[in-house]
Parts: sequence; C-alpha cells; structure tokens
Amino acid sequence: MKSMHAIDMETVEMTLDIMKYAINRISNTSPELGKPKQEHELLELVGDTVTKEGIGGEKAFQLFRDILVKASVPVDHPRHLAFVPAAPTRAAVLFDLVTSAASIHGAYWMTGGGGIFCENRAMEWLVSLTGMPDETFGVFTSGGTAANLSAIVTAREYWRSLNDDNKKLKGLIITSSGAHSSVKAMAQVIDADIITVEDSEEYKLTKECLESEIKGLSDFDRKRLFAVVATGGTTNAGIIDDLEGIAEVTEREKLWFHVDAAYGGAALAAPSVRHLFNGIEKADSVTIDPHKWMFSPYDCGAIIYKNMELAKNAHSQKGAYLDIFKDKGAQGFNPSDYQIQLTRRLRGLPLWFSLSMHGTDRYTTAIERGLELANNAAKQIKQLPHVELIREPGLSCVLFSRIGWTAEDYREWTYKNHDSGFALVTPTKWTLEEGEITCARFCFINPDTTEKDIKEILESMK
Ligand SMILES: Cc1ncc(COP(=O)(O)O)c(C=O)c1O
Repeated sequence: MKSMHAIDMETVEMTLDIMKYAINRISNTSPELGKPKQEHELLELVGDTVTKEGIGGEKAFQLFRDILVKASVPVDHPRHLAFVPAAPTRAAVLFDLVTSAASIHGAYWMTGGGGIFCENRAMEWLVSLTGMPDETFGVFTSGGTAANLSAIVTAREYWRSLNDDNKKLKGLIITSSGAHSSVKAMAQVIDADIITVEDSEEYKLTKECLESEIKGLSDFDRKRLFAVVATGGTTNAGIIDDLEGIAEVTEREKLWFHVDAAYGGAALAAPSVRHLFNGIEKADSVTIDPHKWMFSPYDCGAIIYKNMELAKNAHSQKGAYLDIFKDKGAQGFNPSDYQIQLTRRLRGLPLWFSLSMHGTDRYTTAIERGLELANNAAKQIKQLPHVELIREPGLSCVLFSRIGWTAEDYREWTYKNHDSGFALVTPTKWTLEEGEITCARFCFINPDTTEKDIKEILESMK
C-alpha cells in the first residue's frame, strides 16, 4: 500500500485542483449564498465519504466543491448581515493557507518563535488601540468565548490568591443582560454565579446601577463578588456599557474589570466612535475578536491583560515533558502560558500579514465603512413607510421593524431571502416599554456591502 505522505501524481493533481479553487474563491466578490439542507439530504447526495480504501482526492474534493460548500453560507457574502458576519481580507485568507502549510506549533517560543514574533507585532497594534498601560499585552485565542474564559479564570485565580477564604467560595460576577451568551456559559464552566444588571433606558451597565447592585448585596455575596464584565458593543444592538463609570467602581471596590469587546473592539480603530470606549484603558482584561470586524479568517480571538503575570499564574501548564520549553535556551514569549489552550495554531498570523501588507490606516477605513453603512441603513429606514427604526445604530448594528409583522412573518421573510440566495438577514428580539418585540437586525462588517444591497433588502419586506 503506498504511503499517504508520498508525493505522487494524485497529490500533484489534488494540489492543482485545490489551488485553483482557492484562487477562484478568494477572488470571488459575490460567492453563492449557500442553501441550508438537512444532513440526511446531504448524505443522499454524496454517499459514504469515509471508507476503508478512501474515495480518492479528486472525488472527495469534487463532492465538497459541487455539493457540500453550496449547503454552507459564505460569511463574506455582502448581503450576509445576520449574527456577526465576517469579511476576511484576501491577504489574510491567503496567509491562512501559508499558516497551515508552514506547520508551526504556536504554543511555545522554542518551536514557534518566528511565527509568534509576527503575532506579537499584530498584538502590539491591538493593545495600542485600547490605550492600556505599557506593560499590557495579550495572546490570540480561538475566539471570544475562549478569550472570555481565559480572562475570568485569571480573575478568579487572582481573587483566590488574595486570601484563603476566597478559595472556599463560589465566585460571583456582575454583568448585563446584553452581555454575550459566552459570558454566562463560561461562568458556568468555572462554576461561578452571575448577576445581570443594567439601566432601564439604554440597557447599559452603568456606574449607578453597578453601585446600587453592589450596595444591595448580602455580606456573603459581596465576599463572593470578584469581577465585573462589561460589554464593548453588545452583539444584539452594539451598545457599549459605561466603561468609565464601571472602571471607577471596580477600582474602588477592588474588583476585576473585564471588557468583552469581541465584536465592538475593532471600532477602537475608528476615530468617529472611539470616544464611546473611554474607560477601556482602565480594564484588567479585554477581549477583541479579529475574526469579527478585523477581517481575519476563523478562528481568531484575542485576550489582552493589564498584568500578564496574573494570566501566567492562572494558565501556565506544568508537565515533565514541557519543562524544556521553560529552559533558558528556549526562552521567549510562550502564548500557551496566558490562555486556556496548549497546542495552538498561529492564528494571529493572517492578521499580521494583512496588517503588514495594508497598514493600519486601511483597517480604520474599512471599519469606518461598517459604521457608515449602519448610518445609511438607518437613514433609508427613516424614509420608508413600511419599516421603522427601533433605535439609532449601535456601532454597526441596526434594529428595525416591519410595520404590522408578527414573529412568524420575520421568520418566513428570512427563509425566503435565504432560500432564493438573495440575502441572509435574521430577526432578533428587543424590549420596548410595551414589552418584548421581534424585529429585524442588520450587522455590517463587510466593506463591500453597498447602499443598494440595503435598499433591496428593505424592499424585500414590502
Ligand atoms: C460580544 C461577544 N462576546 C463573545 C462572543 C463569542 O465569540 P466567539 O464566537 O468567537 O467565541 C461574541 C460572538 O458573537 C460576541 O459578540
């Protein structure tokens, strides 16, 4: 039996096929919006793909290219405005190929030094956007969930190191109901409790409501409270908590201050909204996801810490076979010491290459474009009789309703647009004085989305 690591004609042909596909896909400005299909339908279409003898590279690739990829949604489709879409730069996607081809283990400097060097340059830029103190630094993670988990584990371990009583207590975190589901899920992972609090006008976590919540805690709960998680751009509506006010409270109360800016953090690079983040420079940790609005391919998150030593105390793994990495001869920055993962891809490399190629100014321009599209959508909505703006855009998120529609109407409209390959725009919920309503939501990331795309999507609601 021939070795599957050998370079033979089949490998050469497969390489050419894959490179051809990659070039076509990377240069395609309007990829087909894949239609959803049930798993059993896909199985009927492609049959068994993993067999004892293998089906051959040509066949497997043909099934992927002609059938399976078409049952997936390209995140960079210009009319994909649902959830938090993405729009990796072509440079970043190409360098994702290079990252794979280079086969570098990115956990420790000893094996990943050159690649980690590049990641660190990109990280310096991210850190500079926050305005945090000089010693601040961070690492790239698999995404916002892993970044938030890494931060709250660091916060919890720091709190427990302060006195022995804390070691016996179940931790408590205050956040807002607008915080991303990953904050609640990760609190569950570390077995901490969560309290959500926000003001009733703007649904922000503010200084006043945080102070009053802390004041109202029992002595026991006050002892358990170790962190406040603010959001720098809620996923649903782009709302930024009162970071300045929260920083004052957390400093006075000696609480860890984490800002989850996984989605919104990119807007730190946009001068038109930078002031909304004032106070972030006082955070103990910040999450920013380059795979959202910083045009990196999946998956790439980042966690930034004011005090890297605290992260190292919480995360550095020890094991006989790992000792060599801490040796003098291998010394350098070890990303695995600062977040939850040991073996890691050099996931910051595509961002570094794209930043190096294009420069940071072009990032600013592309991020400002998302804000411009949100403002344009709001303007168009205000001018049309059949739709209504629910609130002014929060960063690049726009919430609006179609007058007279029920939740079912929004669902049908979403599926109709998706099935026809026109657009992916999904409904969400929002709470008004009269109660919770279903509405439509745009989230703009892709700078190639046009004003005409917005117009046509709004027309599809007529
Ligand atoms: C504010 C916020 N935090 C965290 C996350 C989770 O990030 P990820 O999906 O990269 O794990 C998201 C994802 O949308 C988010 O918007």
